[in-house]
Amino acid sequence: MNLQGTRILITGVGIKPVEYVFTDITTGQPSHTSVLADGKEYKANIGAATAFECAKNGAVVHLVARTESKLQIIKKWIEESVSGAQVKYSAVDLGDIAALQKLVASIPDDLPLYWVQSVGLGAGTVQVKDDNPYLLIDDLSEDLIEAELSVLKNTVSLLRLLLSRFRKQKETRVCVVSSMSAIRSVISGSMHMAAKGAISRFANAATIELDKDKIFVTDMRPGIVDTGMYDSKVVQETVSMMGKNYGYDYSKTNIFCAPPSAVGKAIVSALTSEAHILSINMVARGQWPHEQS
Ligand SMILES: NC(=O)c1ccc[n+]([C@@H]2O[C@H](COP(=O)([O-])OP(=O)(O)OC[C@H]3O[C@@H](n4cnc5c(N)ncnc54)[C@H](OP(=O)(O)O)[C@@H]3O)[C@@H](O)[C@H]2O)c1
Repeated sequence: MNLQGTRILITGVGIKPVEYVFTDITTGQPSHTSVLADGKEYKANIGAATAFECAKNGAVVHLVARTESKLQIIKKWIEESVSGAQVKYSAVDLGDIAALQKLVASIPDDLPLYWVQSVGLGAGTVQVKDDNPYLLIDDLSEDLIEAELSVLKNTVSLLRLLLSRFRKQKETRVCVVSSMSAIRSVISGSMHMAAKGAISRFANAATIELDKDKIFVTDMRPGIVDTGMYDSKVVQETVSMMGKNYGYDYSKTNIFCAPPSAVGKAIVSALTSEAHILSINMVARGQWPHEQS
C-alpha cells in the first residue's frame, strides 16, 4: 500500500496513560498500541495509530488536536519509529472556525490532501463521573449532550472549509471515523449512539453528494478500541453489561478491544484502495460482532 506523495490531515490525535492492560483473545498480548516517551508508556488513540500507519506507508502526516504536548510526543514517536517520516502538527480546537480557516490556509498545496476525521469525546472534553460517558438517559448532562453533538458540527465545518481545495485535486480520499455505535444500540449508550448515527449518516450522504467531484468518503465504524477509554473499572462494568445483553459473558476474561493500529491499517487500506470503500465495520476478535441491534 502506498501513500507516497500524499499529505494526510488527521484530526483527533491523542494519547492516554496506560491504566489497565487488556489482552487479545488469541495471542494473550496487550491490545493497545504502545507509545513510549521519556520512560513513560501511553496508549495511542485511533488518530495517533492512523498517523503512524499512514507515515509508515509514505504519507506526510499533519496531526491536529487541542493539546500540543501530546502532539509533540506523537510526532516524536512516529519520527523515531518510521525512517524518513514527515510529521507536522497544529494545536487547534475544531470548534473555533477562525482557527480552522487559519489551519486550512496554512497547509501547503504541493501534495494532494486527504483527511481522516477521528475527533471524539474520549479525551475528557466533558467531565463525567468515573470517566464513564455511557449513561442512562436519566443521568445524561446537558454538557455531554452538547459535546456529543459538537463532533458532527465540527466535522461539517471543517469539511466545508476543505471542499474547494478537494475539488481542485485529481482525487481526494476522506475517512470519517464514526463507530459501530452508529448501527449497534446498547443500554446506556443512547446519546452516543444518536451522535454516531448522525455522523455516519452524514458521511453516507456526503459520499453520494461528493463522489462526482472525485471526493471519495469512507465511513469507518470500529467497535471497542483499546485507547484508554475503557481503563476505568466502572466503564468496564458498563461495557460488560452491554456485552451480556448480546449474550456475551466477559466475567472470566477482559472485554476484548481492537488495537488502534488495526483501525489505522484498515484506514490505510481504504485510502489506498483501487475501489471506493464505502464503509468498514470492525470489532476486536471476541467482541460481540452484531451488525445492527
Ligand atoms: N476508542 C474507541 O473504542 C472507539 C470506538 C469506536 C469509535 N470511536 C470513535 O473514534 C474516534 C476516535 O476515538 P479515540 O478513542 O481514538 O479518541 P478520542 O479520545 O475520543 O478523540 C480523539 C481526539 O480528539 C481530540 N479532540 C476532541 N475534541 C476536539 C476539538 N474540539 N478540537 C480538536 N481536537 C479535539 C482530543 O484531543 P485533545 O483533547 O488534545 O483535543 C482526542 O485526543 C472518535 O470519534 C470515537 O468516538 C472510538
